[in-house]
Amino acid sequence: MAQASTRFLLAGVMGWPVMHSRSPMLHNYWMQQHGLAGTYLPLAIAPDGLAAALRSLHPLGFAGCNLTIPHKQTAMAIVDEVDTVAKRIGAISCVHVRADGSLAGTNNDCFGFIHSLKQEQPAWRADAGPAVVLGAGGGARAVCYALMQEGAKEIRIVNRSLERAQTLAGEFAVAGVSLQALPWERRHDALAGAAMVVNTTSQGMAGQGALDIKLDALPRTALAADIIYVPLETPFLAAARQRGNPTWNGLGMLLHQARPAWKLWFGLEPQVTVELRELIERSL
Ligand SMILES: NC(=O)c1ccc[n+]([C@@H]2O[C@H](COP(=O)([O-])OP(=O)(O)OC[C@H]3O[C@@H](n4cnc5c(N)ncnc54)[C@H](OP(=O)(O)O)[C@@H]3O)[C@@H](O)[C@H]2O)c1
Repeated sequence: MAQASTRFLLAGVMGWPVMHSRSPMLHNYWMQQHGLAGTYLPLAIAPDGLAAALRSLHPLGFAGCNLTIPHKQTAMAIVDEVDTVAKRIGAISCVHVRADGSLAGTNNDCFGFIHSLKQEQPAWRADAGPAVVLGAGGGARAVCYALMQEGAKEIRIVNRSLERAQTLAGEFAVAGVSLQALPWERRHDALAGAAMVVNTTSQGMAGQGALDIKLDALPRTALAADIIYVPLETPFLAAARQRGNPTWNGLGMLLHQARPAWKLWFGLEPQVTVELRELIERSL
């Protein structure tokens, strides 16, 4: 705390491209809200410059940084330590510069997913029934990790490339949890009896085609979730809402994943407020 009040605070997000990122808006809102002298910068770092950029954080006085596309996997081999969560997910979303200048990597996407769900859907329970996860990429790994941490007992992973779903199910296998990898053709009927379905594919994102899925088998009480936040309501979520399902979008996940970084970097615990959400929503 003492450190945070006497230094000019520096953090940022490394990506390529990076100017579309909402992270500077979000973190600089918290800087202002906490009355801090500091800034959070967008850092356009080409892939071949990532190692040098990460090593420059300490001499430049940065507390750390977030990582976005395409750096999340590559950074794992550059930082000095990767924690268990990031190893499980296979990607780093946040780097912390420790006092001795060494770099520690973690992944806060699962934290963001769960804390957003709990804030926006307080009645939600991971063990309420089967969860269907559509996709098997980095987002899916964070979601599966989070659901299992919260006590999910059955997860059906449906992916276009079955092999990727099988790898995920194999790596995450633990006693007492049913993890099924299903082929993409099964995406419609995999929804039968589900308590929740989460889209973690890129389908439905601005500039991409809509997710091709029939919701007939999905119970109307099931939560339809999409980790995409551009647009805020994907065609999948709109279809689920129109048939009466409760829905949840990925904006809260983005906002909440930023919180643990502040604890690491500055020893502070900022909150996701209605005002912050509205600020980011207006920018989308
Ligand atoms: N809200 C947040 O904070 C947050 C955090 C992370 C990610 N996201 C969002 O989540 C989405 C996925 O990100 P990611 O990092 O997981 O990406 P990723 O690792 O590249 O995975 C992409 C996933 O989409 C699937 N996919 C791509 N094109 C498809 C198609 N035409 N039909 C069916 N499936 C298709 C891929 O299937 P294959 O394996 O067959 O290629 C894979 O499962 C992005 O929209 C991203 O913005 C949001």
